[in-house]
Amino acid sequence: MERALSLEFLRVVELAAIASARTMGLGDGHKADQAAVESMRTEMDTVNMDGTIVIGEGERDKAPMLYIGEKVGAAVRDTGHAYPSVDIAVDPLEGTNLCATGAPNSITVLAASDHGGLLHAPDLYMEKIIVGPTCKGAVDLDAPVEHNLRAIARRLDRDIEDLVIIVLDRQRHEGLIQDIRKAGARIRLISDGDLSAGISTALLGTGVHAVMGIGGAPEGVLTAAALRCLNGQIIARLVVSKPEHEERLAQMGVKDGKKIYDTADLAPGNRIIFACTGVTDGSLLRGVRFFGDGVRTQSVIMTLNQRGVRFIDSVHLEQGSDVRVRAY
Ligand code: FBP
Repeated sequence: MERALSLEFLRVVELAAIASARTMGLGDGHKADQAAVESMRTEMDTVNMDGTIVIGEGERDKAPMLYIGEKVGAAVRDTGHAYPSVDIAVDPLEGTNLCATGAPNSITVLAASDHGGLLHAPDLYMEKIIVGPTCKGAVDLDAPVEHNLRAIARRLDRDIEDLVIIVLDRQRHEGLIQDIRKAGARIRLISDGDLSAGISTALLGTGVHAVMGIGGAPEGVLTAAALRCLNGQIIARLVVSKPEHEERLAQMGVKDGKKIYDTADLAPGNRIIFACTGVTDGSLLRGVRFFGDGVRTQSVIMTLNQRGVRFIDSVHLEQGSDVRVRAY
């Protein structure tokens, strides 16, 4: 599955990124998201798979496309053929506001696994701590912030003062931000995009040592899919604070709302593919660049079984044979 489908999924995220990048800076997050969703939906059906959306744009009555349970892939129209059965999680445009305002770090994202390999997470908030391979096993969701920071610093063989922790800039994080500052670590506050931030923790050279705080649960599952491939760790717990959240959990078959999930609970698959493309420039990937004759994209595609992480720089030619392509 991984070998056969990786490049297909690469095309899906690349084209979605190009579609949404055309709306960059227009100030219309809905339009940016819509462009990514429509492109992804169309391209998905050209992939030779029998796909089911397990994390998408929401329930059928709220989302006309890429809704949970929707069947996607070539099997939809070609019923006479046996295609591999694949579960799909998407965030067609992670950071819609980032794209709408031309801010850094918006990406298009898709993860795929064998059947049952990605948790069917409800669209709730999730409390998360995300770290890279060196800090795997060092953090505890219920430990004081300072304790976790000390553990991260020890594993990374540096002082707390040399850590950079990414936190979503939200009022709900006031206490967390104070605690991190009090412990002495440095903070990068982001307006959106804890998924690309989470991936950055597991890549050397990004200068990001952990992500802490509350973000979306679907983003948590997608982060886990990437971290399974990168050997990082996410520990997380759903935020269940209202009776309707309990109902949602029951509908999704989640029995224990207080459960602490580790990376492999969120993305237990034996075969996982994770693909994302930069829409706007970011610390993980460069954004889409239009240069008249064509378009250039940067993506990363990771596979669990084949232990591969490929950064892919593509030039999509649009204008015929006399185009000129820059080497870098
Ligand atoms: P979108 O993909 O919908 O733009 O979400 C961006 C995001 O910032 C995520 O990265 C994060 O997990 C979530 O929203 C946080 O939600 P909220 O904006 O409600 O705090």
